Amino acid sequence: MDLGLSGRNAVVCASSQGLGRACALELARAGCRVVINGRDAAALEAAAAEIRAETGAEVIPVAADLDTPEGQQALLAAVPQVDILVNNNGGPPFRDFRQVDQAAMVAGLTANMITPITLLQRVIDGMVERRFGRIVNITSSSVKMPLPGLDLSSGARAGLTGFLAGVARSVVHANVTINFLLPGAFDTRRLQSGQEAAARQQGVDVGVVRAQRRDAIPAKRFGEPSEFGAACAFLCSAQAGYITGQSLLIDGGAYPGIL
Ligand SMILES: NC(=O)c1ccc[n+]([C@@H]2O[C@H](COP(=O)([O-])OP(=O)(O)OC[C@H]3O[C@@H](n4cnc5c(N)ncnc54)[C@H](OP(=O)(O)O)[C@@H]3O)[C@@H](O)[C@H]2O)c1
Repeated sequence: MDLGLSGRNAVVCASSQGLGRACALELARAGCRVVINGRDAAALEAAAAEIRAETGAEVIPVAADLDTPEGQQALLAAVPQVDILVNNNGGPPFRDFRQVDQAAMVAGLTANMITPITLLQRVIDGMVERRFGRIVNITSSSVKMPLPGLDLSSGARAGLTGFLAGVARSVVHANVTINFLLPGAFDTRRLQSGQEAAARQQGVDVGVVRAQRRDAIPAKRFGEPSEFGAACAFLCSAQAGYITGQSLLIDGGAYPGIL
């Protein structure tokens, strides 16, 4: 399927590995010029080289901390105009809610609510003027289904979803859409480090924790980042202009609700 994205400029935040990288790869494959980002410059350069080799696309690495105004400026200045913005960031650490102090709350809200809104504010008027824009926010299944130790993640991402619900309706007339992708368990470094921490806590091999968690998912497997990237590319496609304000859960059936 031709996604109609050839020549578009995409900024994919927090994308040197994991879900962000998978989104960047699919957008590059669809013909976009892609800005990728992470704080570790060496890892980012390596990811850029891999995506270029695989797709032949122009890939611009911007090594920066997304949560700083300088980092945000560097990201947005890397292309003449932003047609596609994929908001992603690191997630808050697993922590009992009693231990989430004010500094941790501010950091979590900054990363998972304030930074995405700030970036959106900077690009949205240009998108409206040009009559094309796609904004995809990577949030979490924890918005719909709380996970132990991820209360700050649930709260900040639900806040982002609520904030942008009205914004999405205000710009769709100009072919600018805002949607949310909610990952369940995808086999990335973040997932693996959570499993390693749980194994240490329980005093068991990490393989035991992985097997338990895999078996609890109706699909009986973890998600592949490439599956996530493909969904992101579709939401960014020319064909997806009538889809806005939606939260798409991609979790192998783990969420048990009907709606
Ligand atoms: N994987 C899952 O199953 C899952 C499930 C639910 C929700 N999520 C959420 O989805 C998002 C992506 O998860 P993931 O599994 O892909 O994580 P990951 O594999 O740990 O990758 C995180 C990426 O973000 C970058 N990053 C982190 N903080 C950054 C910052 N301040 N500035 C710029 N780049 C930054 C990292 O690079 P550097 O470290 O070099 O900066 C890395 O490229 C996270 O918010 C996570 O909580 C993931």
